[in-house]
Amino acid sequence: MTRKNCTLGEFIIENQDSFQYSSGELSKLINAIRLAAKVVNHEVNKAGLVDILGAAGETNIQGEDQQKLDVLANEKFIQTLTNREIVCGIASEEEDDFISINSNDQQHQNKYIVLIDPLDGSSNIDVNVSVGTIFSIYRRITPVGTPVTLEDFLQPGKNQVAAGYVVYGTSTMLVYTTGDGVNGFTLNPAIGTFYLSHPNMRFPEDGRIYSVNEGNYVHFHQGVKDYIKYCQEEEGDRPYTSRYIGSLVSDFHRNMIKGGIYMYPKSSVTEEGKLRLLYECNPMAFLAEQANGLAIGGKNRILDIQPKELHQRVPFFCGSKNMVLKLQEFLEKYH
Ligand code: AHG
Ligand code: MN
Ligand code: MN
Repeated sequence: MTRKNCTLGEFIIENQDSFQYSSGELSKLINAIRLAAKVVNHEVNKAGLVDILGAAGETNIQGEDQQKLDVLANEKFIQTLTNREIVCGIASEEEDDFISINSNDQQHQNKYIVLIDPLDGSSNIDVNVSVGTIFSIYRRITPVGTPVTLEDFLQPGKNQVAAGYVVYGTSTMLVYTTGDGVNGFTLNPAIGTFYLSHPNMRFPEDGRIYSVNEGNYVHFHQGVKDYIKYCQEEEGDRPYTSRYIGSLVSDFHRNMIKGGIYMYPKSSVTEEGKLRLLYECNPMAFLAEQANGLAIGGKNRILDIQPKELHQRVPFFCGSKNMVLKLQEFLEKYH
């Protein structure tokens, strides 16, 4: 159902039956994420004020207000998901290890685990530029009722049941997929409700935007360098436009709407790349594929990678189908 202007709450209920293993549990989980997103949105929106209050209140022993926003976002998401007893395990970019969630009297019967990048684009927090939250949901592999193990978290991205992001931008949006297309909801802050504003989001097949940190150019491998030069060449619809916010969520969101490619390659400095497979690349790759785009880590599809560790980093190229395929041609010349 994609009735424009319905609320996210209505949308979740009306689409519950379309989930493959519908029992209402995933709906409740997405509802919990919706709530956490609103809480974090509230914190992000007053980020500048928190600094002022923090400075003014140095003698105040309430340290919480002075916490960095990414730590705060991490806490809010984990608290919301834990308090609602909706998942059996959480892994976060901000935590060294995964968290196993047990109820007081018995092991949870919950099936789902969540992985989060609570605040993406941290370097933009202090300068009032868009940041985001990324989430990724899997069914556990180990038996329900037992403590989760690392194996539950180290699943290839193609096993994802749902994934999405919140972008705290000029308006706040929650964009997600449960494997049946991508839908975007915009928060009306006056009443605290998300409305379906972008039904069935899709990357245009061709795009004219390339997003990469060109400051690292000299360290990139030759295939990437050649592709960047290709983007800059004067021919046909080129040169393309360069746009890089430095916040994956925001760069991805713009590229999905306008058509473009995002690149975070490995380099002579960072041999694995920078972005984290489990918290950033997999959820964005799932969204990209569901929105008619592509996501690769080099030769391979991101969603096929078998993770080896929780905080694994991989090269990441993602966006409009024809742009990613063209980039792949350049990469393959050097393999
Ligand atoms: P995070 O803030 O969660 O650590 O992620 C930052 C990521 C990503 O959002 C962004 O695109 C990229 O790092 C920017 O890295 P550079 O500053 O190296 O370009
Ligand atoms: Mn991030
Ligand atoms: Mn982060």
